[in-house]
Amino acid sequence: MIPTAVLVSGGGTNLQALIDSRNSGALTSADLALVVADRPGIFALERAKAAGIRSIVINKKELGRERFEAELSRVLAKHGIKLIVLAGFLCILSKDFTDKWPRRIINVHPSLIPSFCGEGFWGLKVHEAALEKGVKVTGATVHYVNEIPDGGEIIVQKAVTVPEGITPKALQKRVMKLAEWKILPKALQIAAEKIEKEN
Ligand code: GAR
Repeated sequence: MIPTAVLVSGGGTNLQALIDSRNSGALTSADLALVVADRPGIFALERAKAAGIRSIVINKKELGRERFEAELSRVLAKHGIKLIVLAGFLCILSKDFTDKWPRRIINVHPSLIPSFCGEGFWGLKVHEAALEKGVKVTGATVHYVNEIPDGGEIIVQKAVTVPEGITPKALQKRVMKLAEWKILPKALQIAAEKIEKEN
């Protein structure tokens, strides 16, 4: 099992999907060893606690990116982490950081990349942009993370239809439920299995 850290910034429903997958026995190659939040007080931390997963807050706003990443690197090394999942993690990591973790960081993004992705496209904004464009199909993507925001190799994608007249908030929920929560555990299992085979 590959020691895995899950990085979060918000409600943590994607973290919950990983926990549920672990509990159901489907996630066999990744050990959810640590949750790291970039801000205090978020509900994802409660989810980690309830699941018995160690968690830590590294306050990005207080530290700034450089010191945040230095502290993150220290914590990941201390816990022997080999794989990182960005699950609703809203900081962009520097090239210095991502270069140290080639094919060892995965991210879930709430659109079909290369649509509605890159800097500025996060959370609800992605769905607002998709509705503004009038797309009939959207979805979610899990990909490896490199120095280009949402630019790394795609692992899994899932399409979701866009019902007429749906609001951005309702579309966000629909994409999470029908795509993100399904493909994130699947992609983590794929990425972790690959590392197991390499070792
Ligand atoms: C999710 O929809 C995730 O795809 C998105 O933020 C939400 C977090 O929800 N991430 C991004 O937009 C990253 N570019 P969660 O905290 O409930 O998992």
